[in-house]
Amino acid sequence: MTEIRATNITWHEGPVKRENRESLLGQRGATIWFTGLSGSGKSTIAFTLEHALIEQGRLAYVLDGDNVRHGLNKNLGFSAPDRAENIRRIGEVAKLFADAGTIAIASFISPYRQDRGRVREMHQQAGLPFIEIYVDVPIDVCESRDPKGLYMKARCALAAGKGMGFTGVDDPYEAPNAPDLVVANDRVTPQEAAIQIMAYLQTRLV
Ligand SMILES: Nc1ncnc2c1ncn2[C@@H]1O[C@H](COP(=O)(O)OP(=O)(O)OP(=O)(O)O)[C@@H](O)[C@H]1O
Ligand SMILES: [Mg+2]
Repeated sequence: MTEIRATNITWHEGPVKRENRESLLGQRGATIWFTGLSGSGKSTIAFTLEHALIEQGRLAYVLDGDNVRHGLNKNLGFSAPDRAENIRRIGEVAKLFADAGTIAIASFISPYRQDRGRVREMHQQAGLPFIEIYVDVPIDVCESRDPKGLYMKARCALAAGKGMGFTGVDDPYEAPNAPDLVVANDRVTPQEAAIQIMAYLQTRLV
């Protein structure tokens, strides 16, 4: 666990509560967390879902892996500690968005169970819904999609005896044991996946 380094800090509570923001927005804040292999379709579904929620009059915002690595997490790489810190920060940011009353949609490979578990815990402690969605696509399908050419790069690096720590090739992916929802995104279109998720969310979001 990451320790607080600063001393002499005290939580300052303001008069505006989460409930005030939620009643202003007419919705409850929550985090929807997509996990899955590179190329499984997390970003595609996340942005489709965001669009569908906005169309429904709900405020949603996507925090996407590559996008966040362009800014907030630009100083992090893909080593195990950096991946853990990446997910910790995104978890905290998603929690802030959810606390603001927004539906935060996080799409990150987030390969390690423990890191995702910590994000779930921090949401539970804050009384915020955390919905983990496993975008379940076999690696050979992801690899045949390979829109960024990363699997090809990773296979070449591996063959050259270097390796680049790419999830599913030479770095592990730990599938969730008990996700809230599984989307078999090799058998549906992104639109069908979004419809499946919207139907599920009706049972979880008010
Ligand atoms: N349901 C689907 N059926 C077929 N192709 C899909 C589907 N969903 C996404 N794709 C395609 O798969 C590729 C990978 O999708 P996407 O970039 O969303 O994956 P990702 O999980 O976000 O990957 P990464 O972790 O590398 O960011 C894209 O070319 C996308 O168009
Ligand atoms: Mg993506």
